[in-house]
Amino acid sequence: MQIKNSALSLILEAQDLKSLDEIKLQFLGRSGKLTLAIKDIGKLPKEQRPEVGVLANEVKKVIEEALEQKVSSIKYQASSIRKKQIDTTAPGIKPNIGHLHPLSLVLYEVIDVFKSLGFVAADGPEIETDYYNFEALNIPKDHPARDTQQTLYLDTRNSRVAPGEIILRTQTSAMQGRVMEKIAPPVRVIVPGKNFRYEQVDASHSFEFWQIEGFLVDKEVRLTDLFGTIDYVLRKLMGQNIKLKFATTNFPFVEPGVDTYIQCTVCAGKGCSFCKQNGWSEIMPAGMIHPNVLNAVGYDPQKLSGFAFAIGFSRLVTLRYQMDDLRLLTNPDLRILEQF
Ligand code: DAH
Repeated sequence: MQIKNSALSLILEAQDLKSLDEIKLQFLGRSGKLTLAIKDIGKLPKEQRPEVGVLANEVKKVIEEALEQKVSSIKYQASSIRKKQIDTTAPGIKPNIGHLHPLSLVLYEVIDVFKSLGFVAADGPEIETDYYNFEALNIPKDHPARDTQQTLYLDTRNSRVAPGEIILRTQTSAMQGRVMEKIAPPVRVIVPGKNFRYEQVDASHSFEFWQIEGFLVDKEVRLTDLFGTIDYVLRKLMGQNIKLKFATTNFPFVEPGVDTYIQCTVCAGKGCSFCKQNGWSEIMPAGMIHPNVLNAVGYDPQKLSGFAFAIGFSRLVTLRYQMDDLRLLTNPDLRILEQF
């Protein structure tokens, strides 16, 4: 018993492997205390020998186990201390830092350019009502212009909403009504956002695409203000040397309507799959806001006028980086994204 207690207390106090080795030798070595005591059992009276023998073996086992445990705990501590030490001379591990997606990179630029012209950015719902997406924009229910915007409808069968009234917005123009209803003129707002249409997907079209709608309402706003704004903004974003051309077009919420084409930057106007062999790509439809739209939001078309436009933003980003397919913008492949 004495041997056991003194061995265990020594083991408990031991700080390193070397002293444990010494303790082992001291008790269990050839001339160790326990070894000698076991040898002495033979000298005891015969009746006592088995009992003491069993006891001695148990003590031996306990000491061996205590030694083993202490060895492994000292080893463990040593290894975790080593881990905690910082080697200030080791070369650093370069963290893999991400960066903004090309859509975000260009979007922030667009917002900055418009900010310098006094515009603020607004955000609106992607799930929209038929009213703001069409009616408030001078596109009543039976208007043929609805056919050009293949609309995705939400299933409202189990609600009180009439069928066809809730849709995925087909154009960020839907925010014109929402914004102008709430604020008094003058107005200078852009609305970046996603739109959705039931469309065939190809290199320059998608069922899901970005637009940046913009509108300005004030006194005496003229068509030439619109031309100047488009020219200024697109050259800032795409470079001073781009080639632009305007054509008349028809959208129910503008009169007159203007279409802006940019010479294709993918093929430098030679014709490719992105511009459909045309050499030009539609980039920024626009026009003077129709009096019916101003009336719908409670503005007086006799006193106010304005223009509206939509930058085809997915297309702008694609052309800006001379990508030949806008589907690359929604492809999560890092080999593409790492190039920006
Ligand atoms: N919202 C139209 C579309 O997506 C584009 C558009 C045309 C917007 C003329 C405008 C505009 O603000 O004035 O087809």
